[in-house]
Amino acid sequence: MSECENEVLNNIPEAGELVRLAVNIREKAYAPYSGFHVGAALFADNGKIYTGCNVENASYGATICAERTAIVKAISDGAKKILAIAVSSDSNLPTMPCGICRQVLSEFCSPDMPLFLSNKNGEYKVFTFDELLPHSFKQSDMEDVK
Ligand code: THU
Repeated sequence: MSECENEVLNNIPEAGELVRLAVNIREKAYAPYSGFHVGAALFADNGKIYTGCNVENASYGATICAERTAIVKAISDGAKKILAIAVSSDSNLPTMPCGICRQVLSEFCSPDMPLFLSNKNGEYKVFTFDELLPHSFKQSDMEDVK
């Protein structure tokens, strides 16, 4: 492991910190259609934290979820891998990422990546990525056709 990778792994934020950021960034959600505010905060392999909120659109299908906002911010800033993510919403229940966000996450995380899925008060449950999307479709699933 390189020194740089080591430094990142030694500075992994606490779950509680990521959850707090996810809860707070919800305020920025643009959700005039659903009224459902979602926030996400992820820790990436470059040692940085990225946050995101849902951004809705009058053409409903153009809506971008909080998780994907944060993922696109991270990757466009040069991050290569997501090491942990927290998600929060207005609900009293833990916020479960939608199927599209699970698939997008699968491109950039390991099966054992932790997800801290929080309710509106910051109370969270921990899952691994593999629990949420086992047998995901990956680049390697296309290899035999290349
Ligand atoms: N939403 C997210 O931001 N993340 C999810 O994983 C589930 C759904 C948003 C999309 C839409 O703006 C609102 O929640 C209701 O579906």
